Amino acid sequence: MLNDTGFDLWAENYDRYVAESNGYPFEGYYDVLDHVYNRIDWDTPGPKILDVGFGTGTLTYRLYRNGAKVYGIDFSSKMTEIARRKMPEAHFIEADFSRGLPDEVKNVKFDFIVSTYALHHLDNEHKVDFIAELKSLLNPGGKIIIGDIAFKTTSEFEKCRLYYPDGWDEDEIYIVFDEIRSSLLSRGLDCTYTQVSDCAGVLVIE
Ligand SMILES: C[S@@+](CC[C@H](N)C(=O)[O-])C[C@H]1O[C@@H](n2cnc3c(N)ncnc32)[C@H](O)[C@@H]1O
Repeated sequence: MLNDTGFDLWAENYDRYVAESNGYPFEGYYDVLDHVYNRIDWDTPGPKILDVGFGTGTLTYRLYRNGAKVYGIDFSSKMTEIARRKMPEAHFIEADFSRGLPDEVKNVKFDFIVSTYALHHLDNEHKVDFIAELKSLLNPGGKIIIGDIAFKTTSEFEKCRLYYPDGWDEDEIYIVFDEIRSSLLSRGLDCTYTQVSDCAGVLVIE
């Protein structure tokens, strides 16, 4: 699993790597980003949106360009530098989300919180705790929209893992909806899940 230095080293090549990759782990990447983007309600102009693990800002920039007031959390200074160049007005915070929410966002309320390809760095227990923490930042009617390497069932997860035995990253903890659903519901986190590609999906929490 990469730390902040690993992501710093990846930052300049990240967009090209994703664009040129086939299969796991980025199968359906652009469809996942589209799906997350399309779950945002744009009826009210200028929604306030937090992007957790924004990276080079591929999704974040679409939100920003469409008039969202963008905030973001990422621990890689190189990723943040690239994103800042595209979005000078955004509020980017360099922080490690595995340590919980940074102070800079604790008193801010958001209409939407998005995260793509980042939360698989947290184990299931920490994921649920962190999602509950994020939920406390939502305005009424807000949503958390998470796109990531994810599966509806354990058997679909195992099928994908067997299909990609060589490149599979055993350190990353992917969402298996049927395994995490009851923990989310027990914390009052209503959730739905949509499979988008063979190895990615979108989890929505309201
Ligand atoms: C695979 S990239 C995804 C970037 C972007 N969201 C996308 O969809 O292309 C993961 C991003 O999450 C950030 N990240 C991973 N773990 C993190 C952590 N514990 N705290 C803050 N940022 C983290 C990395 O620095 C990186 O920018």
